[in-house]
Amino acid sequence: MDSDLCLLIRHARILLPAGDFLVGDVHCRGREIVQVAPEISDKADKEIDATGLTLLPGVIDPQVHFREPGLEHKEDLFTASCACAKGGVTSFLEMPNTRPLTITQAALNDKLQRAASKCLVNYGFFIGATPENLPDLRDVQPTCGIKIFMGSMHGSLLVDREELLEPIFATGDRLIAVHAEDQARIMARRQEFAGITDPAIHSQIQDNQAALNATQLALKLSKKYQRRLHILHLSTALEAELLRQDKPSWVTAEVTPQHLLLNTSAYEKIGTLAQMNPPLRSPHDNEVLWQALLDGVIDFIATDHAPHTLEEKAQSYPNSPSGMPGVETSLSLMLTQAKQGRCTIAQVSHWMSAAVAKGYGIPKKGAIAPGFDADLVLVDLDNYRPVLREELLTKCGWSPFEGWNLTGWPVITIVGGQVVYERGHLHTEVRGEALSFEG
Ligand code: DOR
Repeated sequence: MDSDLCLLIRHARILLPAGDFLVGDVHCRGREIVQVAPEISDKADKEIDATGLTLLPGVIDPQVHFREPGLEHKEDLFTASCACAKGGVTSFLEMPNTRPLTITQAALNDKLQRAASKCLVNYGFFIGATPENLPDLRDVQPTCGIKIFMGSMHGSLLVDREELLEPIFATGDRLIAVHAEDQARIMARRQEFAGITDPAIHSQIQDNQAALNATQLALKLSKKYQRRLHILHLSTALEAELLRQDKPSWVTAEVTPQHLLLNTSAYEKIGTLAQMNPPLRSPHDNEVLWQALLDGVIDFIATDHAPHTLEEKAQSYPNSPSGMPGVETSLSLMLTQAKQGRCTIAQVSHWMSAAVAKGYGIPKKGAIAPGFDADLVLVDLDNYRPVLREELLTKCGWSPFEGWNLTGWPVITIVGGQVVYERGHLHTEVRGEALSFEG
């Protein structure tokens, strides 16, 4: 493919870096944005008439589980990246709980190679912490950071005790991202509630205190070593209040759309499809998380896209696996909230793009400005359409948001200056690039 192809997007309502809008044109050459102006007269290889559509930086989803290698019956890098393209997600950061686990340079290289051959969008991968791979955690390249499962995991990816965690915080200086749940507390409560098959019990077993305990421990270690810490999928008011009081400048946190928009009432409606880790919480938690996001206590949004088949999900609790898909619906869910007045479009874009790029040190992403990468999404903020199971591209084939009537659906998604999704059609020949991360 010619790397210097010119793409002109005309008459779009363009979100500018300062958060205001310009109705105008964007000129991309190769993978880069070269000009943003009210009117650009140059000729181009391809032109898009974006009249009536809003142009946003492509979403960077900083927490997904795409299941390849080893669990491809749930999802793979091709199907997941198709779902990303449809959802306006132009880059993702993927987690290490695949088979084999991503805990060595060789496993990371394998994932990068697979992604290069089949991913329609840009990609980066976490290295998973075990009690034994300190040198890998310090040295592997390229990675967005170290993922530690402090709880809700079994086998070698579980690093739950302070004496195992401390050397990881003490060694090297790259970002550490934690799944913060207190495994010992979860195990004890599992015994207490044994025999109950109502999935609603999940939120009581893995309760708010379990999340708070682990977040407190991660914060303590991060402060001791001034170590860059990112707290994944914050789920409780307790943690948000803790961070509001005590958040060092080198700590960031994220929240998922489901922890903002769903709560324990979802179990009654969708049963085990609502089961995830950390679990859904109360409406009060929803409210406090929203406020923390609006106030900047929470920095950005991730989906924790974690697909399981309907068959797997149909097993009764606790045999049903935890996790739900998200990349296809996250942007529309959040833009719908903006349309309803909960926040602004600019805030949604900041939380889903610019703030993620800043948090992970991803250069040239997250803004529509000359010199930035041409990862873009054109959304339609005038029409509403429901989430329909039959339209989903994720291999798992379901969403916890089925039936929700959303606006802001992507109409066209562009990765590196190439149209990858266009009005229901995928350009499956487009390939993303490996992301880079500045320390
Ligand atoms: O619900 C979850 N599912 N949370 C996680 O942290 C892991 C994920 C998965 O991989 O299924």
